[in-house]
This record gives sequence, C-alpha cells and structure tokens, in this order.
Amino acid sequence: MHSQWRDCQAWSNFGLPLSTTSNEAAKMYDAVVAQYVGVYSDKSVGGIRKALGTMTDADPNFVLGSALANILSVCGTSQNANTNDDIRKSIDKMMMMMNNNNITARERLHVEAVKCFAEGDMETACSKWETILVDHPTDIVAIKLAHDGYFFTGRSEQMRDSTARVLPHWNKHMPFYGNLLGNHAFGLVETNLFKEAEDTAREGLDVNPYDAWSTHSLNHVMEYTGRHKEGIQFLNSTLGTWDKCDIFASHNYWHWAVFHIDRGEYEEALGIYDQDIAPRALKIKGMLEILDATSFLYRLELEGQNVGDRWQDIIDLCRPHVEDHVIMLNDIHVLMGCLGARHTDLTKKLMDTLREYVSQHSKQHKSGVFQDVGLPLCEAFVAADDGDYAKAVDLLHPVRYKVVNIGGSHAQRDVFNLFLIDAALKSPENRHRKLARCLLTERKAMRKNSPLTDRLIARSLALHVD
Ligand SMILES: [Fe+2]
Repeated sequence: MHSQWRDCQAWSNFGLPLSTTSNEAAKMYDAVVAQYVGVYSDKSVGGIRKALGTMTDADPNFVLGSALANILSVCGTSQNANTNDDIRKSIDKMMMMMNNNNITARERLHVEAVKCFAEGDMETACSKWETILVDHPTDIVAIKLAHDGYFFTGRSEQMRDSTARVLPHWNKHMPFYGNLLGNHAFGLVETNLFKEAEDTAREGLDVNPYDAWSTHSLNHVMEYTGRHKEGIQFLNSTLGTWDKCDIFASHNYWHWAVFHIDRGEYEEALGIYDQDIAPRALKIKGMLEILDATSFLYRLELEGQNVGDRWQDIIDLCRPHVEDHVIMLNDIHVLMGCLGARHTDLTKKLMDTLREYVSQHSKQHKSGVFQDVGLPLCEAFVAADDGDYAKAVDLLHPVRYKVVNIGGSHAQRDVFNLFLIDAALKSPENRHRKLARCLLTERKAMRKNSPLTDRLIARSLALHVD
C-alpha cells in the first residue's frame, strides 16, 4: 500500500504540482487519494473523512482538495447539488475559491469536472477528466473519476479505453500502478475480453496483492466464464488481502455469495450475507453496501428461497434514499429494498417522486435514462410484486437493451435479466413462456457453465407452451 505521503515538492516532481504551499495539505491529499483509489481506510490518518478534515484544516483554500472532498461526498451519498443544499453550498464555495485563487489549468479542469458531476452532467465531467489525461496521464484521480463516471453511465468501452490510453505512461515503481491495472482489468472484462482481463488483474495482484479492484476484476472473469467454484476458492484463499480493503470488501463478499447462488448453494450464500454483507451494510450505510444487500436478497428470492426477516434490517438503510433520483442504478436497488420489506408507503413514495421527477425533467429533455429505462424498469418490478407478471414482462422486455445505460456492471445488471426470465415464466400468457425459452437459449449460449441457467431451463421445460 502507498503510505509515503507526497509533500508539495514531491507532487511537483511527479509532474502534478498542487496550488497549496502547505506540505500537510499536500500529504493529506495523497492520503485521501490512496484510500479512494485503494478502497480502504488507513488508520494512520484516521480514515478518509479524518484525512479530508486534516487537509482542509491545513489549508482551507486548497481548491483541488475541496474538489476531491466534494466528489467523494457526491459519490458516497447518492445525493448531488440538485438534491442536497449542503452539497450545493459546498460546490458554490469551491467555485468561489477557484475564482479567487491562482491555480493550474489541470486543477481548474478538475474543479469544473466536479461541478458538472455534482450537477448530474457526468458526460461533460468525464470529458474534462479526459482532457486532463491528455497532458497528465499519471493523474490517478482523473483516471479513477473518469472510470467511475463511465461506470455510473454504463459505458464499458470508454472505461476500458480510458485506462488503456494512460497505461504506457506508468510503471510498477509508481504509486497506484497495481490499482490502475485492477481498474483496467475491469474495463477489459466488462467488454468481454476475458483472457486479457484475467492476465491484467493477475499482474495487478503481483504488483499489489492487496488491490481489491484486481481481485474484483478476477471475480467478474470467473462469473462471466462460469468458473464459480474457482472463484470461491480464489476468494477464500486470498481473503486476508482483499478483506483489508474495507470500503470495497462488501462487494467482493457479494461476488462470493453470488457464486454460491449460481451453484445452488443457498446456505453458504446466506452465511456470507449474514456474516459479512449485512453487518457491513448496517455499519457503513453506504450505497454500494445497500446495492450488495438488496441485490443479494432479491436474487435469492428469485431462486424461490425464503430470506426470512432479513429485509427488515435493510429497509432502514433504503429509507433515506427513496427520493434520491440521482443515479438510476441506486434507485432500482432501493426499490428492491422497499418491495422486499413489503413497505407499501415507501414504495409509493419512491414511485410517486420518480414519476414526478421524470415528468418535470422530460419537459427540459433532462430526464434521459430515468425516463427511457429507469421508470419502466421500476414499474416492472412493482407490477411483478403485485403479481402482474405479464405487465412486468411487457414493461421491461422492450427496454432490456437500454438497461445498460443505468450504469453498473454486467454482473450487477444480471438481476434484471433474471427478473425478466422469472416474470416471463410466471406470466399466464403463452407468448411470454415462449419468450422465456428464447431468453434462456440466449443465456445458455453466453453462460455455458451456469447451474443457475440450467435450473431456469428446467423450469421452462416443465411449463406447457402451445
Ligand atoms: Fe462487481
């Protein structure tokens, strides 16, 4: 792990000068970057939040530090400047600081990108980070934020190409090289370049065995190529490394549990949920942990498993987010939590405010993915919950190839494929049962070694189809 925090001179020597004269602020900026990129909490600086506070105390006018604090706030809360007054004020303050301070062109682009991202314009934000990377390909913050922006908008090719463009400027002696390989491997696996992804992720682990992103990218390789048993063995044998990355551990545990679900090993999956996924979600209360928990429980119920009263804990985590409507991937998982807990009031509030959001913003042509795919997707989940599986299929099937635009990974979005197949199997309409068989034929072609797919095929063959 990177721990030799760089002072002002060291940042300058690295080719990324900072507009602060405070060595303490420069060092704490590095400490925050290390924890953000490495997805862990460094106790020596008190974790990310404490390091951000120390940085700001050391230099309250450190503009780039303010930009980093703002973007981490937006990414961590599922709120943005349009929905949260505190974030709006903080963004306004950052812009004033930018105008009142003499900062570099690189820092100015960072500030502008953060403002765009915080106002919901992720596309322009990514474009600004890419502009930085043309002249500064070693700016890991620009690399990582662009990567996150592409992730939240479902743009896998851009995610892959962005890291591919900067890699030749890096070497293994530079801080975060292993993390960069882990992120590049993720873009490769999300564009179905499995061999390249596996080689890159393993190289990332050679450079930095603690890199949870390299581990994560390997999980995706195992998932997409049906190597679930190998994935379980890999995570089990390397637990002592990736588990230290506490900001991301929940998601790697989620992958571990999903491997077990595919193999029909429900007790093992629930054991991981009870021991590692749920406790982390309840403690951290972050969006990623909420996504992991809700997605896990929903998948298990699609498999016909009884998850007991586990939704009741999770609903308290979802409650503050029912009116977010900032990132569609988050909205649909919060809806799963409301439906799973059978909380009709929260479900109604989420759906009413989502419909209102789409209605208001469609007039300004700004509702985009929420209108095109988010709303029909959510309406489909509500319809299925009401037992109207035919309606659920008719809502989701026409937009299934647009679901990628809500962001996330293929693995995360697979719950929507499984949902559509399940609804088609449960629909009373013959045309939907035929559709289910088509969807399963398609799934089998892509996932040859998936016991889950084979179980679904057996379900479809047991149904009468005219
Ligand atoms: Fe993942």
